[in-house]
Amino acid sequence: MLSLYRRHRPRAFDSVVGQEHIVRTLRNAIGLDKVHHAYLFVGSRGTGKTSMAKLLACALNAPGGPRADFAPDEPSCRAIMTGTSLDVVEMDAASNNSVDDIRELRENVALAPMGGGRRVYILDEAHMLSASAWNAFLKTLEEPPQHAVFVLATTEAHKVPATIIDRCHRFDFHRPSLEQIASVLGRVADEEGIELPDAAVGMIARSATGSFRDALGTLEQLVTYGGNSVELDHVLEILGVADVGLVFDAAEALVDQDARAALLAVESLSASGRDVGQFMRDFTAHLRHLFVVQTLGQVPDSFSVTAEHTDRLAGQAARLDQGRVLRAIELLATGMSAVKEGSDPRVQLELALLKAVQPQSDLSLGALVYRIEQLERRLAVAEGTGGVERSPSGAGNGHETAPPGAPRGPRTGVAPVSAVSGGATALATAPEPAQELELESVRTLWPAALDAVRGGNAMVGALLAEARPIALDGGLLKVAFPADCEFSKKKAEANRALLQAALLQVTGSSLALEFELAEPGDETVPAPTLSHEELLERLKQEFGATEVFEDAPDQED
Ligand SMILES: Nc1ncnc2c1ncn2[C@@H]1O[C@H](COP(=O)(O)OP(=O)(O)OP(=O)(O)O)[C@@H](O)[C@H]1O
Ligand SMILES: [Mg+2]
Repeated sequence: MLSLYRRHRPRAFDSVVGQEHIVRTLRNAIGLDKVHHAYLFVGSRGTGKTSMAKLLACALNAPGGPRADFAPDEPSCRAIMTGTSLDVVEMDAASNNSVDDIRELRENVALAPMGGGRRVYILDEAHMLSASAWNAFLKTLEEPPQHAVFVLATTEAHKVPATIIDRCHRFDFHRPSLEQIASVLGRVADEEGIELPDAAVGMIARSATGSFRDALGTLEQLVTYGGNSVELDHVLEILGVADVGLVFDAAEALVDQDARAALLAVESLSASGRDVGQFMRDFTAHLRHLFVVQTLGQVPDSFSVTAEHTDRLAGQAARLDQGRVLRAIELLATGMSAVKEGSDPRVQLELALLKAVQPQSDLSLGALVYRIEQLERRLAVAEGTGGVERSPSGAGNGHETAPPGAPRGPRTGVAPVSAVSGGATALATAPEPAQELELESVRTLWPAALDAVRGGNAMVGALLAEARPIALDGGLLKVAFPADCEFSKKKAEANRALLQAALLQVTGSSLALEFELAEPGDETVPAPTLSHEELLERLKQEFGATEVFEDAPDQED
C-alpha cells in the first residue's frame, strides 16, 4: 500500500496548503495558455514541490486541453499521480546526475506526447546535477520542443548555475506554519478515520520542522505503533521528545526562581525515561519562543496550535525578563556542549537550570555580567522615575557623601581597581548614594568585589574575605568583621578607597563605607577562619608583610 503522505498528495491545486502565491500564478498561466517551458521550484523538504509539479502536469494533460480545474480522477491524472504516465518523466538528479543521463533525457524530449498534451519532465534534487550535465542540459532547456515543459525542483537553489536559473521561471515555496501542518494532519486523520488529540497534532507538527511529509510520516508511524486511536504517550515515545508539560514546568521554575521546582522538573523528566539531551534542545527551543514572544509582544501563529499552549507561553513570557531567558539559553548551550564531550546529561541540565534559577549561586563572570546588567537596568528604571532624592540618612554622619549637584552615573572617571588606589580622593569626594541598590545584591556581588580588590591589593583582599556586608542605608554600606578582627578592620579602613572602587565597579554604585566589629557570636558574621596570630603569620608568609607596633601611625599599604 502507498505510504500515507503519497496517498494524501494534493490531487488538486486547491488542496495545496500554504503555497497560494504559486497556485495562483500557475492557474493564471494555464488559463492564459502562458505556461513557461521551464520552472524552478525552490523550497525546503516536504513543502510541495513535487506535488505541485505533478499537478501542473495533470493540468497540462487534462483531456480537452490544459485546464487548472482538471478532474483528479481522470486516468491521465491518476497515471501522473502514481508515476505511471508516459508523458510525465520523473527524474531524481541525486541518482541520475551525469552527462549521459542528460543526453538520454535530450533524446527523450524529442518524442511527441502520447496523450496529446505536454511532456512534463520533473527533475527532483536538481542541484545534484554535475557541471557537465548542466552544460549538456542548457541548450535543451533554452529551446525545448514546444510540447516539453521542465520542472526543476531543489532545496538548494544556490547550487543551481545562474545560466539555468535565468532560463526558468522561479517559484519559492513557503515553509509551512505549525497551523498549516496541523490542518493537513487533521484533514488526513479525518479522511483516514484516525483519532488524533489536539495536543498530539501540536507535537507532531512541531517535530516536523516545516515538512508536510515528515508530519504525515510520523502520523503513519503512530498508527502502525498504536492503531487508529493515537495517544499522547505514543507521540512522546515515537518522537522521543520531552513532554511539553515538563518543558513548561521547567520554565515555570525559572519564572519563580524556584530551585526546588527546577530539580523536581528534572526528577520527573528522568523518571519519564525521556532523553535528557532532547529535553535540553526542546527547552532551549521553548526559551527561544519566550524570547521571541517578549520581543514581538505576542505569540506568533507559527509557535503554537493549541489555545492553552498559547496562553501559557504568553503568561510565562510576561513574567520573565529577557536577560534571564537569554542567560538560561546560554547556560543550556554550555550544558549541551559539555554533554557532547561526555558529561552526564542530567547533571548538566540540573546545573544549567540551577544557575539560571539562582544566579547568585553562580559566580562565573557571565553571571556577574548578567547581574550588573540587571542592576544597571534597575538603575535606569530608577533614574527614569526622575528626582530620586538622596537619602537624608547619608548626609552629615561623617561618612563620605556626594555634594549636591555631583554628576550622576557612577562610572565617570573610574579606572580599574589597582589604578584607583592612587586616585582614592577622587572617589572619596563623590560617592553617589545608591537608592535602589539592595543589600542582597551587594551580598551577591561581594565575592566579585573582593576579586577586584585582590586584583589591586591581594593582602587587603585576603583581609576583607573575613568581612560581610551587614547593612545598606541610603548609600552607606556597613561592613562587619568578626568580633576579634580589630587588625583587619583597621587595615580595611585605611584602604577603604580600594573597596569603594571595587564596589563601584561591580554594582555601578558608589558607596560610603563604615566598618565595624560584630558582636561576639553574631551569626551574620561568621568567626574568622584564621586566628589573629595565624592571620599575621599568613600575611607575613604570603604578602611579605612586616609587623609594626601599636604606636606607629596608620598607613595605606
Ligand atoms: N503544500 C502542501 N499541501 C499539502 N500537503 C503537502 C504539501 N506539501 C507537501 N505535502 C504533503 O507532503 C508530501 C510530500 O510532498 P512533496 O513530495 O511535494 O514535497 P517536496 O517539496 O517535493 O519535498 P522534497 O524536497 O523532499 O522532494 C505530499 O505527498 C503531501 O502529502
Ligand atoms: Mg520532491
